[in-house]
Amino acid sequence: MQRFIDLADLSRAEVLALLALAARLERAPQPQALAGRILGLLFMNPSLRTLASCQAAMARLGGSSFVITPGAGTWQLETREGAVMDGGVAEHIREGLPVLASYCDALGIRSFADGKDLAADLGEQKFSAMARLVDKPLINLESAANHPCQALADWKTLDELGIPPTGKLVLSWAYHPRPLPLAVPAATVHMAAMRGMQVTILRPEGFALPTPILEKARRAAAACAQAQGVAPATIEETSDVREAMSGAHVVYVKEWAGTTHYGDEAADAAARRAARHWCLNEDWFAAASPQCRLMHCLPVRRNVAIADALLDGPRSVVQRQAYNRLPAQMAVLYELLKPRETVSR
Ligand code: CP
Repeated sequence: MQRFIDLADLSRAEVLALLALAARLERAPQPQALAGRILGLLFMNPSLRTLASCQAAMARLGGSSFVITPGAGTWQLETREGAVMDGGVAEHIREGLPVLASYCDALGIRSFADGKDLAADLGEQKFSAMARLVDKPLINLESAANHPCQALADWKTLDELGIPPTGKLVLSWAYHPRPLPLAVPAATVHMAAMRGMQVTILRPEGFALPTPILEKARRAAAACAQAQGVAPATIEETSDVREAMSGAHVVYVKEWAGTTHYGDEAADAAARRAARHWCLNEDWFAAASPQCRLMHCLPVRRNVAIADALLDGPRSVVQRQAYNRLPAQMAVLYELLKPRETVSR
């Protein structure tokens, strides 16, 4: 594996091998496996879990890391092609990224969606431009429309919880005062489709996931099902809470921007305000079983997206999810940076 950019770049068997590696490294630590290796981390946007789990994973494998957060002690980085840099930004990624890559053995980049142009964000224009400047193993730490590290950790969590591979996963929209990116919902649908799950997307009108995200997940579902000789995962959308929650094994809550008014700040804010009551509480689970679990990638706004009692109650596995970012990250780093076997002649 040279790059970890998108679960879609891997076969189901390759994802399962990464999950097995994560479990093995958790059981039997290898504190010298990546001794002398360096991970560079470029965070164009804030983080808690991704940053800390990457650094902890690298340290647990014997390697080290450095972190660059442009504008916070380091130069701000311009990403626009052809920009006239006569403002406050001192350096362009065209110089900055190759410099950073030259200091490390692998580089992780977080660069969120601009949230203005849906096609540009879905096409990963900004992340792709950055990736082209890196000649080292590269990890996507959340791009405009993807978060593969989160998805890998979530798959691990689902397995550990005994959620059936063909079980029902509800991806539920929740309110947030700002239009958040599509990265986690897109990655979650894709992960669940590769896993073989029955996926229901529960969202208010105006918040349907874009067709390219759904088509990509359906293609993955078909390919994975064909490889296994089983029926493919299904992906449906509804605004009906009772219908969605009926028979659910797990509810994955996430806030995301409206897709009808994407990039139109005022219209999107009005649509989100109209759905302000989409703050999940126990009442939402009336049609679900007591065993139905609650997931969220965090950070979450308490009593805005999810009520205290639900987050603190027995359904919630958000801490387990967050912990699993560590072994999942260890597996990705090990796979990217492990010493290659040399052939002696
Ligand atoms: N879930 C997640 O990526 O968390 P952070 O934004 O804190 O890294």
